Amino acid sequence: MPVIDSVWKWFTDRWPFYPLKHLLLDEDIPGGASYAYTLGSSILAVIGLQVATGIIQLFYFAPTIDHAYDSVSYLRTEVPFGWLVHNLHYWGANIMVVLVALHMMRVYIWGAYKSQLTWLIGIGLLVTTMALTFTGAPLIWDMKGYWAGEVGSSITGTAPVFGGIMKKILRGGETMGQLTLTRFSAIHIVILVPALFFLIAAHVASFRTSGIVGSWNREKRKQIGLFWPDQVFKDTVVLSIVIFILLTLSVYYPAPFTGPADPSNTTYLPKPEWNFLFLYQALKYFKGPFETIGTAGVPTALIGLLALLPFIDRRPERNPALRPIAMLCLALYAGTILTLTIIGYLSPGYAEMPATPAKTASQQPPGAVAASAPSAPSSNAGEMPGAKLFKSVGCIACHSIHGSGGSVGPDLSEEKLKGRNRVWLVRQIRDPRAGNPNSIMPAFTTLSDRQVNDLADYLLSQTPAPTGTEKTSAQSAAAFPEKTPPVPETPVKKSVEAAAASEEKLPGHAAYTIGDAENGAVLFKERCASCHGPEGKGGVLNPGSHDGTVPALSPIDSLFFSTDPRYFAKNIDIYIQHGSVPEGTAPLLKMLPFGDSNALTQEEIANLEAYILSLNKIDRAALIDPGMQPLTFFYLAAAFFAAVTLILGGIWNNKYRHRCE
Ligand code: HEC
Ligand code: HEC
Repeated sequence: MPVIDSVWKWFTDRWPFYPLKHLLLDEDIPGGASYAYTLGSSILAVIGLQVATGIIQLFYFAPTIDHAYDSVSYLRTEVPFGWLVHNLHYWGANIMVVLVALHMMRVYIWGAYKSQLTWLIGIGLLVTTMALTFTGAPLIWDMKGYWAGEVGSSITGTAPVFGGIMKKILRGGETMGQLTLTRFSAIHIVILVPALFFLIAAHVASFRTSGIVGSWNREKRKQIGLFWPDQVFKDTVVLSIVIFILLTLSVYYPAPFTGPADPSNTTYLPKPEWNFLFLYQALKYFKGPFETIGTAGVPTALIGLLALLPFIDRRPERNPALRPIAMLCLALYAGTILTLTIIGYLSPGYAEMPATPAKTASQQPPGAVAASAPSAPSSNAGEMPGAKLFKSVGCIACHSIHGSGGSVGPDLSEEKLKGRNRVWLVRQIRDPRAGNPNSIMPAFTTLSDRQVNDLADYLLSQTPAPTGTEKTSAQSAAAFPEKTPPVPETPVKKSVEAAAASEEKLPGHAAYTIGDAENGAVLFKERCASCHGPEGKGGVLNPGSHDGTVPALSPIDSLFFSTDPRYFAKNIDIYIQHGSVPEGTAPLLKMLPFGDSNALTQEEIANLEAYILSLNKIDRAALIDPGMQPLTFFYLAAAFFAAVTLILGGIWNNKYRHRCE
C-alpha cells in the first residue's frame, strides 16, 4: 500500500530504524545459538511486564498507611482483571530474582564474567533487583510487607557507621510510619526503576561492545550462529514458558493477603522476604559484639567476592571442565546461600503461627528488639507464665486485670480475690460449678496441672497477701441466680437491619477491610472461643438468654450469612464493634463491644471477621469483579498459547527449517 510505504519512508528517513535493528538483531554468536543464552532476554521481558503491571497498579495505589492496603484490596477484588495485574507483578518479582540468579550461574559456568565490565554492571543489576523486591513488599502495607520492611530496615540500622543514618533515611524517622511508606514507594518507583533501566542499557551496550562470548569450545566457535533468527527463536520458546509459568502461578497461587499492617499485633512473627532469608539466617550466627560484623560484613563479603571474581580469575580458559576450582567455588557459594535460605525458612514461627506469641530473643532478628520496642509494651519482658496463659486460654475474654479485658466475670485484680488461696483458685479454674452450680464460667479441664498452677500464681501475685481464712464461694454465688431463669416463650432475634438502623450501630472500618483468616484464628482462640466455643462451634451455656447458650458462629445464624463477603462482614461487624445483649430475661453473657472499647484494633477485628467468614466457607478475599474467572482465563490463555505455538512452529518450519539441519 503506497500510503503505508510513504509513512514508513517518512519515518525511516528521520529515525535510525535500520541501524537500530542491525544493532539489536544482527549479531554473530560464536558456536551458534543456544538455549543457555535465553535467560537474559527472559529477564528483559519480565521487566517489561513488571513495568506494565506496575503502572496499572499505580493508577489505583494510594501510598498512605490508612489506604494503601485497602486500595490494593480494591484493585484485586473489585477491578476487572485487577487480580491478574497484582498477581503477575507479585510473581514477576519473585521469578525475576530466580532468573537473575540462574543467569548469573550460567554466565559463571561459561566463564563469561571474563568480560569484566559487563559482569560488574550485572552485579549492579542484581543489587537493584534485590532492592526492588525489598522496597516493593512493604508498599501494600499488609502484615507480611510491613514486617519485612521493619526487619530489613532494623538490620540496616545495626550496620556500623552509616547504619543508623541509613535506617533513618529509609524510615523517615525512628519507627515505621507514613514517611516510611512514602519513601519506600519513592525509592521503588523513581529511583530503582530508572536505575534498573540505566544499568540494563549499560549492560547490553557493554556486552555488545565486547561481542557475544559464545561457546568455550574452540572448534565449535568457528561455526558462527546468527542472533536473528536462531537465537531469537530459542529466546521466544523460553520466554513463552516463563510467561506460562507466571500465568499459572497467578491463577492458582494468588499473592497472599496477610491483613492490614498492625504494629501492635504480637501474634505475628516477623520474617524478611524469601530472597533475603539467607542473609537473615546468616546474621543469627553473629551475636553480641559481632552483630555489626555480620550486618555490614556478610553482605559486603558476598557482593565483594562476586565483584572481585573477574580480577582474581584472569586465565582465559573458559571450559568448565578445565576450571575445577572455579566450579567448586560456585558450588560452595550457591550451596551456602541455598542451605541458609532453607534453614531460615524452616526456623520457628514461619510456617505456622503459634497460638501463644513466643517472641523469644532467638527468634528475633538482630536489631528487631530495639526496633519494635515502641510498639510492644516493654512490661512483657519479665512476664509470668501465667500472664501469658491468662490471655491465650481465653480468661481475658471474660475477666479484666488492671482494667484490660472482658467484663463478664469480676476484675481479678480487684478486692474480689482478697483472701482466695491457691487451692480455691485451682478448683475455680478446674470446676467453677463445684462452688457455684450456676456458674457460667467454663470448666478448664484440658489445662495441665502446671498451667493451672501458673495461672494461680499469676492471680495471687495480683492480690494483697492472703489472710489465710478461706472464704466459701457462697459469696460469689450469691451474685448469681440459684436457678436458670425461665426461657421466654417466643424469642425474637433482633434483626441486623434493626441493629444497623440505630445511628450508632454502623459497621466500623474493619468491615471494609480484608483481614487475614490465619491470624484471625489465633485471635479467636484467645478472645472469643471461651464464649463461642472452639472454632465457633457451639457456645457455652448462657442462662437467661432466649436460647440458653451463646450463639454458634459456625454455622452462623442465616440472618448474618451472605455469599457476598462484603455484606457478610458488615453484618457481623456491627456486633463485634458495638456488642449486643441477647434477648431474654437476664442473660449472663453479653456480646462485648470489642471495637468501641478498643479492646481490639480494627485490623484485629478485620482478621477475626475473615476467620469467621472462612469458618462459614466464605473467602473474605473472594473476587467480586474478576473480569473473567481465573480458571476460565487460564484455559483460554492455554488455548491461545497452543494456537500461537502451532502457527509460529509452522512458519518456522517452512521458512527456516534448513537452519536446524
Ligand atoms: C465465659 C466467661 C469466663 C471465662 C472464659 C472465665 N471466667 Fe472466670 N469467672 C466468670 C464469671 C461469670 C465468674 C463469677 C463467678 C462464677 O460465675 O463462677 C468468674 C469467676 C472467676 C473467679 C472467682 C472470682 C471470685 O473471687 O469470685 C476466678 C478466680 C476466675 N473466674 C478465674 C478465671 C480464670 C483463671 C479463667 C481462665 C482460665 C477464667 N476465669 C475464665 C466468667 C469466666
Ligand atoms: C463473654 C462472652 C462472649 C465473648 C468473649 C464473645 N462473644 Fe460474641 N456473642 C456473645 C453473645 C452472648 C452473643 C449474642 C448476642 C445477641 O444475641 O444479641 C454474641 C454474638 C456474636 C455475634 C453475632 C452472631 C449471632 O448469632 O448472634 C458475633 C459475630 C460474635 N458474637 C462474634 C464474636 C467475636 C469475633 C468474639 C471475639 C472477639 C466474640 N464474639 C466474643 C458472647 C460473647
